[in-house]
Amino acid sequence: MNLIERPRRLRRTAGLRAMVRETFLQPSQLIYPMFVLEGEGRREPISAMPGIHRFSIDLALEEGHRASELGIRALALFPALESELKNPQGSESWNDEGLFQRAIRAFKRELPEMMLVTDVALDPYSSEGHDGLVTDSGEILNDETVELLVRMSLSQARAGADVIAPSDMMDGRVGAIRAALDAEGFTQVAIMAYSTKYASGYYGPFRTALDSAPRRGDKATYQMDPAGGYREALRESRLDVEQGADFLMVKPALAYLDVLRMMRDSFDLPLVAYNVSGEYAMVKAAASLGYIDERRIVLETLTGMRRAGADAILTYHALDAARWLREG
Ligand code: PBG
Repeated sequence: MNLIERPRRLRRTAGLRAMVRETFLQPSQLIYPMFVLEGEGRREPISAMPGIHRFSIDLALEEGHRASELGIRALALFPALESELKNPQGSESWNDEGLFQRAIRAFKRELPEMMLVTDVALDPYSSEGHDGLVTDSGEILNDETVELLVRMSLSQARAGADVIAPSDMMDGRVGAIRAALDAEGFTQVAIMAYSTKYASGYYGPFRTALDSAPRRGDKATYQMDPAGGYREALRESRLDVEQGADFLMVKPALAYLDVLRMMRDSFDLPLVAYNVSGEYAMVKAAASLGYIDERRIVLETLTGMRRAGADAILTYHALDAARWLREG
């Protein structure tokens, strides 16, 4: 054939392929989510998330060291609270001596260089299993919830959080949290807004991990409609930018790579993808049955998220991925 262009020429050798490669994945781009629980020497597996555990603070620190040795520089912490501590207001969330605050302080003492991204939302602390305050009729109150999110954020900042990550989807919470942090002198504490968060079936294993599933109703009045399209995603993100967010996020990642790409093209803030619990569970299940090559699939998927526009990725695969990247 008399072809002028032969794209295969650039795929002929490993050296050529490496030379023209556009997308790179590095351990420093991975954020490892971890669940902490009360006690000592405790390490509880999470069903549907093989390889992921709830750790008491002492063992969580050991896991943190392992992450650090593999080149991971950020952890996303979530508290798994005992049910006696949960109530409708989620008041344990602003207890400066609470499990979460003690965990943050312990990490900052033991691993001061490790960035801590701390979750802000009522659901781990709420007896209702919702991210906000619930009325008797089941309505999720917005403005009243934001007041509590502000208290929670300040308590986390006092404990030493580097990045406050509101995952609740209440209107106006980023601005309120930013103002409160600044007023208390925490001008250097960043906000990672869960800006584009869908009401997703992919959160199932996470809710098992924290025993935080809604006791009644669902999250459709605050999390976004998966079929909602692009305008709502743009609007939510614009509002978070205007209110002072430092990072934007798309969550879940896998079924929303198109949204990730649109966000990358529309905003100049760092963009984070959350490779959520259900996405992890699917890979682990298929890999344990021998249906897929786990290492290949994980690295390909994370690379796809980077290509779609993610600067950083929250992923339960973080330690494995970092090890595989290191092995080359
Ligand atoms: C809730 C929260 C959820 C996740 C992170 N924060 C679940 C939910 O909205 O119900 C899910 C993360 C995952 O599935 O890995 N504030």
